[in-house]
Amino acid sequence: MHSVRANPPLRENPDAAYACHMRLGQIGVRRARDQDVAAIAQVHDEAWRLAYRGVIPGRDLERIVERRGAVWWRNALRRHAVVLVMEFGGAVAGYATLGPTRMRSLPYVGEIYEIYLKPEYQGLGFGRHLFAAARAELARYGLKSFAVRVLRANDGAVGFYGRMGGTPVADTAERIGETVLPVAVFGWAA
Ligand SMILES: CC(C)(COP(=O)(O)OP(=O)(O)OC[C@H]1O[C@@H](n2cnc3c(N)ncnc32)[C@H](O)[C@@H]1OP(=O)(O)O)[C@@H](O)C(=O)NCCC(=O)NCCS
Repeated sequence: MHSVRANPPLRENPDAAYACHMRLGQIGVRRARDQDVAAIAQVHDEAWRLAYRGVIPGRDLERIVERRGAVWWRNALRRHAVVLVMEFGGAVAGYATLGPTRMRSLPYVGEIYEIYLKPEYQGLGFGRHLFAAARAELARYGLKSFAVRVLRANDGAVGFYGRMGGTPVADTAERIGETVLPVAVFGWAA
C-alpha cells in the first residue's frame, strides 16, 4: 500500500541464498530491471483498482495510479529500491518491494512495503511464492525480522498475511487525501 523509499544501497549477506534464483516450474522471482517498469506499473494499476475501489475515494485512487507509472518505477530502481518481479510464462504476474522498516517503534528491522499480483494471478498460490522470495531477499540483506502494513479494509490481504504466519502487532492509520483509513501491522520475528 506504500511508496518505495529512496534508501541507501543495502548491504548484502553474500552467504545467504539469493531469492532471485527461486524458481518453481514456470514461476520465477528475480530483481526488477529497467525493462520491467511498464509491466510493474501495469500490475500496480490493475491490482490497486481491484483492491481499493470503494475503499480509497475514486479521485485519490486515480491520482495514485497515475503517479505510479513507468517513470516513477524507473526512478525507484535508480534510487536502488529493492523491487522483485514474479514472472509466469515470461510475463510479469506481480511484484514486491522491500527494505528497512519505516516503523522504528516496533521490534522489526525489515519491511515488505508492497506485494501485488495482477488480478488474474490472485488466489492461485503465487502470492505465497512471492512472499517467500521477499522474505528470503530481506534475509539476504540481514533483515530477518520484518513487518507489513495493510489497510484493514483489504480483507484479502489481511487473511493472506495471517496465513503467511504474521502476528497482528499494531493498529495505525493512513491518510489518503481527506480520508483516514485504519491500518493493521503484521510482524514476523527473526
Ligand atoms: C494478497 C495477495 C498478494 C495474495 O496472493 P495470492 O496469490 O492471492 O495468495 P495465495 O493464493 O498464494 O494464498 C496463500 C495463502 O493465503 C490464503 N489466503 C489468500 N487470500 C486469503 C483471504 N482472503 N483470506 C484468508 N486466507 C487467504 C490462501 O488460502 C493460502 O493459504 P493456504 O496456502 O494455506 O491454502 C494477492 O491476492 C494480491 O495481490 N491481492 C491484491 C493486492 C493486495 O491486496 N496486496 C497486499 C497489499 S498490503
